[in-house]
Amino acid sequence: MDPLLERIYAMDKARLEQCAKYLMVGGGTRGGPVLHRGKGVRVWDMDGKDYIDCTSQGWALYLGYAHDAINQVIREHIENLTHVHQPFDTKVRFYLAEKLATLAPGNLKRVSFTVGGGPAVEAAMKICIKNVRPARDFVCLWDSYHGTTLGTMGGSWVSTKSSGKYMGGSRFLPLTRPFIRIPNPDTYRNPFGVDSETYIDMCLTMARETFQRGIAGKPAGVIVEPIQASAGQLILPKRYLEGLRKLCDEFETLLVFDEIQTFGRIGCMFAADFFGVTPDIIVLGKAIGGGLPLAGVIVSDKLEGFAPDVEELHTFASPTLSMVTGAKLIELLETGLLENCRLMGQYIGEQVKRMMVEFPQIGDVRQAGLHIGIEFVRDPKTKEPIAAETVAIRDAALKHGVIFGLGGVRRNVLKIKPPLIVNRQECDEILDKLHRSMRQVLHK
Ligand SMILES: Cc1ncc(COP(=O)(O)O)c(C=O)c1O
Repeated sequence: MDPLLERIYAMDKARLEQCAKYLMVGGGTRGGPVLHRGKGVRVWDMDGKDYIDCTSQGWALYLGYAHDAINQVIREHIENLTHVHQPFDTKVRFYLAEKLATLAPGNLKRVSFTVGGGPAVEAAMKICIKNVRPARDFVCLWDSYHGTTLGTMGGSWVSTKSSGKYMGGSRFLPLTRPFIRIPNPDTYRNPFGVDSETYIDMCLTMARETFQRGIAGKPAGVIVEPIQASAGQLILPKRYLEGLRKLCDEFETLLVFDEIQTFGRIGCMFAADFFGVTPDIIVLGKAIGGGLPLAGVIVSDKLEGFAPDVEELHTFASPTLSMVTGAKLIELLETGLLENCRLMGQYIGEQVKRMMVEFPQIGDVRQAGLHIGIEFVRDPKTKEPIAAETVAIRDAALKHGVIFGLGGVRRNVLKIKPPLIVNRQECDEILDKLHRSMRQVLHK
């Protein structure tokens, strides 16, 4: 082993403490296990304890840790190329662009790559501004999350009081672009206490009225996560997305699907296929690089795209290694991985729903493929959120050796989003440890 790596790997806890004062982390709360090694769905911390990772590291590692096929293409490709600047062509960039354009629905046929999810949403916003005139303002949904860049933070719930308080996002308001928000059709809870179908109609009416009366000029674009992940894994109703599509056509604005979390994970390549609704732009990030950093947009060929005169220039927007691993991921998705995602997701979803009898605090189970959320409430009738108990369940599970995600604007949603390679035995282990953790916390 390289002596530098040996020195790094040999660092003990005291040494890490010395270094910690130099580190500044702007996202998430540190303090969990220090991860050292991973294989498949499992990761080991520096003390040798293992965990099944149901976060897939920010929902990005669809193939888990150290996947053999991914490691193989990395080893082979890295001997030829790693970093290539955006203006230079490479074979793999052509290959991946064609692949994504072929898979994408309708006339979404042009792909632009970039460096991360936030910049990819911003790339979509640039395309909207170029194509919709006169337009300046963007529409997003209550509780949406589209990133924390200055261009996207204003469209994320972290800049609002969604969570009950103003958070970090609101500190940058002087520079953040304001978004105009329309109600999200949350069919589990809505502020009017009406039934779901009525609420969907109300949300569409509010969208229409906002487009008509609430925006200076045309909306430049409507940006939507078809499944609102950070908000709490809310699966938007198909009828709502269909209605939004019609409204965008009527008001001559563009519909953007932020598919950064849905691509592949919901058992279809795109949420656009899952819902049968074709947007004008699809935004990709997280897993699209097969576990390495990559993001991008797929844009309708009816739209004016980027000109090469510095409209969208990024030094690392053409990472050949991530493109190779991204292409490998797509090959695996096409040859069984999507099917596994559907089957395992359905299995976990059904088993968790069965647990609702024993645990009435499971207010709702929302499952599409391996995009799974459990919303915890004090009582299924009052739906009062129980954030502290949700954290306690997450923490108990960590001790048992499963890492669950925690989220939702009320902080009461447990997220089960393991790598798509998870097998039935591993699902049973996840479910068993979830069950034990819930018993410990909810049966006190
Ligand atoms: C739906 C969605 N959009 C955008 C982003 C921002 O992506 P990134 O963190 O890569 O900037 C995220 C990240 O969680 C996301 O979930």
